[in-house]
Amino acid sequence: MKYGYFNDNEKEYVITNPKTPYPWINYLGTQDYLSLVSNTAGGYSFYKDARLRRLTRYRYNNTPIDNEGRYYYIKDGDTIWNPGWKPTKTKLDNYECRHGLGYTKIIGEKNNISSEVTFFVPRDFNGEVHKMVIKNNSDSVKNLKIFSYIEFCFWNASDDMLNFQRNLSTGEVEVDNSVIYHKTEYRERRNHYSFFSVNKNIAGFDTDKHAFLGLYNDVDSPDVVNDGKATNSKANGWSPIASHYIELELKPNEETDLIFILGYVENDQKNKFNKDGSINKDKAKKMCEKFDTLEKTNSALNELKNFWENLLSKFNISSGDENLDRMVNIWNQYQCMITFNLSRSASYFESGIGRGMGFRDSNQDIIGFVHQIPENARERLIDIAKTQFKDGGCYHQYQPLTKKGNSDIGGDFNDDPLWLIFATIAYLKETKDFTLLEEIIPFDDSDNNHKMLDHLKASFYHVLNNRGPHGLPLIGRADWNDCLNLNCYSENPDESFQTTTNSEGKTAESVLIAAMFVYIGKDYKELLDYLDLNDQAKEIQKHIENMEKAIVKDGFDGDWFLRAYDSNGDKVGSKENDEGKIYIETQGFCVMANIGKELGLASKALKSVKKYLDTEYGIVLLNPPYSKYRLNLGEVSSYPPGYKENAGIFCHNNPWVIMAETNEGMGDEAFEHYKKIAPSYSEDISDIHKTEPYVYSQMIAGKDAKTHGEAKNSWLTGTASWNFVAITQSILGIKPYYDGLIIDPCIPKNISKYTVNRMFRGSKYVIEIHNPKNVCSGVKKINVNGKNIDGNKIVIDQNTKNTKKVYNVKVELG
Ligand code: BGC
Repeated sequence: MKYGYFNDNEKEYVITNPKTPYPWINYLGTQDYLSLVSNTAGGYSFYKDARLRRLTRYRYNNTPIDNEGRYYYIKDGDTIWNPGWKPTKTKLDNYECRHGLGYTKIIGEKNNISSEVTFFVPRDFNGEVHKMVIKNNSDSVKNLKIFSYIEFCFWNASDDMLNFQRNLSTGEVEVDNSVIYHKTEYRERRNHYSFFSVNKNIAGFDTDKHAFLGLYNDVDSPDVVNDGKATNSKANGWSPIASHYIELELKPNEETDLIFILGYVENDQKNKFNKDGSINKDKAKKMCEKFDTLEKTNSALNELKNFWENLLSKFNISSGDENLDRMVNIWNQYQCMITFNLSRSASYFESGIGRGMGFRDSNQDIIGFVHQIPENARERLIDIAKTQFKDGGCYHQYQPLTKKGNSDIGGDFNDDPLWLIFATIAYLKETKDFTLLEEIIPFDDSDNNHKMLDHLKASFYHVLNNRGPHGLPLIGRADWNDCLNLNCYSENPDESFQTTTNSEGKTAESVLIAAMFVYIGKDYKELLDYLDLNDQAKEIQKHIENMEKAIVKDGFDGDWFLRAYDSNGDKVGSKENDEGKIYIETQGFCVMANIGKELGLASKALKSVKKYLDTEYGIVLLNPPYSKYRLNLGEVSSYPPGYKENAGIFCHNNPWVIMAETNEGMGDEAFEHYKKIAPSYSEDISDIHKTEPYVYSQMIAGKDAKTHGEAKNSWLTGTASWNFVAITQSILGIKPYYDGLIIDPCIPKNISKYTVNRMFRGSKYVIEIHNPKNVCSGVKKINVNGKNIDGNKIVIDQNTKNTKKVYNVKVELG
């Protein structure tokens, strides 16, 4: 069953039934000001950091779900309704929610009144604009009462929910004409406030939640709206809100607009207050002026649309498969930007309080985003590197506002350092900006000058210096699989699996980190050679070879790669185990790294994936699931069978298998696996899938779950960037390299032609791929601007760099 449809021309998903199986959301903002908005206008907003600078309140796990947002109530006689259906849930004559790139338009119609609210964050603006256009489609005059509603958060979203003995007494607002200012804690150490404005005169306002709603009412039935009159309440403590009351008279067919702005302002210390002690509102006033007319607002919306148009023009394809085209051209790239901006912090499955930016997560997010705005990726790499320690270890997470490592979580996730090498190389292959390697970036625990290149070295040697009895890397608290906690041994439910360590940690080894070491290490060695650091490269090569040998000797289990050794030195992910016999991660990564290829290990591993892990909705993480909690394994065995890391379809590492399959020339299988999890292909089963059909989810319940096929944790997942790399580089075969573009497709045999438009180093490459013999892979010839070239790399002509040349490339497979 579907709840809407894709409108590819407008780059929108149009929801036509408000009762989606879960709130289907969108993100507003591409820079510092960010918002989440659901298909019924639920959600919240923040500046830079969802924990430390939260503007509006949200109550998680609420009943009913998603009961907080930016609401507009329309009172038309005795009928009260919202354009987004919620919270009144008055039945609408027409409803549409159009989630587009950086904006959401919600259209509601009731009793011949139509209301269209477009929510967006203009470029270079610390606020969100809600453009409301209301039209009277009837043949009589209508007198309408409009009430806006948002609830303010006291900035630190965690403290806001917990410390209400204080917070119920600190709330303060100011009202100045049509602008309501939220200034809690501005009197003391904060130099920021927020405001909610409208570009029309108002007939009243409310700023006290209980006055607006009535103490015992929910947002679906506010007293003020029911009475049809604002109370002009001023919040003193309790819960400050902002509600404008506007009276409108609309003649038949008359249309009018109301432009609301929810903004964030920072003042410097000496300009905080006016003489009379009120807050300095200059900046807010300027912000209101920016969008006080429909023309100005529409032009900012167009500017935002052009911004996206331009970004997406950097990579797009035409394949004849509409699902594939819209995933690659629109939604996958959009999701890559969102994951880059938010890491795993704020979604409808992440509170915005628990996690900041993840070291491994943010590095991986870069690989699918770097072609869009490489400068932002560069800045992020520097921020991440700053949270690394001298010995190569690092903080697992950091706060986006302070950019400081989060000491509650600490480090010792031994895969983390390698992801920094991985992401840096992705950046260098896209840009050839080797100046990044010379940037001076201090380690968290040292003030000395160190270059980025030193950080990469420290990362590599951190793995090397922390190996166990089989010469394989020690796992530490966990590797990529945060739930494989082999040193945890926790019997206390009040302990976190991620931060508890009850074993010395000198035995448990990770075959995944070993495979990453080989895969990423090979690229690292190649980079050092490229930089003429040949001695270092030789040294690296030796270590990689030794690690490969260790994996072949002690990391293969007969038909597939082992996953790990636990703290007792026993195998994990082995046929010797009664449960959890085979894991996906090492099958993907070891084959990607060509480990034991000549011995036939790769094909054996991939056959085992097919036999034991593949399902109709994707590849599960392990099999068979753990049926009971295992002290030696930790959180992985804590989930009920089929969910999350315990045999869920963890979408993040499905592309590792896809990329492994392309390594083996298996184009048909790789594309089948791609289609199983790419959400657009599952749109028809949205009732089973439940989460948004336009973005990847972290997890789909596996074959052992009671709800096989049901997805969770949509939006913020490394699945986005890995799948973008898998489809564009491994399947469609356009691989950026230091000195050019490598063309190396591995496609299903039945694709006979497709075109890729790729901006690369300032020039445009229009690449037509022809497959007359219906093969999966193998480039027979390449012609660039009428001339055949040798090999399958289009070498960048340094002289034409940034001259915006167009290269017409014809590729023949066969
Ligand atoms: C985390 C990742 C982790 C993955 C697998 C995600 O929730 O953000 O860091 O690799 O789970 O456990």
